[in-house]
Amino acid sequence: MEAAETIAELARTAPLRIAATTDLDELARVEAETVGKQSPIAAARRGLGALDPNERRDAGRRINEVAAELSELIELKRSDLASGEQAARLEADAVDVTLPGRKPPRGTHHLITRVMDEIVDIFVSLGYTVTTGPEAETEYYNFTALNFPYAHPSRLETDTLYLDYGSVPEEVLLRTHTSPMQARYMEEHDPPVFIVVPGRVFRRDAMDATHTPVFHQVEGLAVAEDITFRDLKGTLAQFAREFFGPETEVKFLPHHFPFTEPSAEMHAFTNGKWLELLGCGMVNPAVFEYAGYDPDAVTGFAFGFGVERMAMVRYGITDIRSLYDPDVRVLEQFR
Ligand code: DAH
Repeated sequence: MEAAETIAELARTAPLRIAATTDLDELARVEAETVGKQSPIAAARRGLGALDPNERRDAGRRINEVAAELSELIELKRSDLASGEQAARLEADAVDVTLPGRKPPRGTHHLITRVMDEIVDIFVSLGYTVTTGPEAETEYYNFTALNFPYAHPSRLETDTLYLDYGSVPEEVLLRTHTSPMQARYMEEHDPPVFIVVPGRVFRRDAMDATHTPVFHQVEGLAVAEDITFRDLKGTLAQFAREFFGPETEVKFLPHHFPFTEPSAEMHAFTNGKWLELLGCGMVNPAVFEYAGYDPDAVTGFAFGFGVERMAMVRYGITDIRSLYDPDVRVLEQFR
């Protein structure tokens, strides 16, 4: 084919090929094949030398025109494709800054923790110090130092969870109450003592609406030179007013605990009825003796209560098991 015909053919077909390209790589291939070094344009230019001068001028002009036209089309197409590709990339990577952020679900303290903290805070505001003790306890601190007789039923395996630990059988157990810290604390500190002890306790109980084998208590101990039963009543009545409301009435009924003498149960009038809230009493002199205090030099009172029970009374919860239900719908009610 004559060079002139080849160029004419190229001028007809190349614009269509250029227009039909869909990406930059394909356009680069079309460019190489139409105006590049191996293209008919380049071949035609190389052939110009063989023509006579007149023909050469016309043919050269025609080649340049076609080359310039095609190059322009290629450039236009290139910027077209480039901006299209960029737009596609931008769209794929787009971040919509006007979208609201994703909120992670908000956690909160469990109701038991909250009520325990609140109880402790009330006593801290009355001047008490917070201390905690071990959950694996010796039978000495859990029972003996608290004046439990050797034959006390609480010591039986039917009530207490013993651990396979220690040098003799039944030496180590899961504490059944927070009271052992009374003895531990007095061994380490001289009077006066004003402490509260929050913590977890364990009993060999089957689960039902009012029992769980693991629950929480807050223990209190006040020891100084002239502590009386009036101090006990005043302190615990104040606690009840702070926890249940300023009008809350309380009453004390006789009871028995080995580590207090006399002992009492405090009841409070809430939600239209009297409810037992806690155990308390004047520290038994025998407990002072075990701890190394002189029972003629000091007096004191002690109290202990269940945190779950406080939460249930205040929030009208009738089944203790709901406090241990991991269903967030239960937990979310007490945010
Ligand atoms: N430790 C007792 C219990 O778990 C509660 C108690 C009663 C604690 C009277 C005391 C107290 O400190 O004085 O049932």
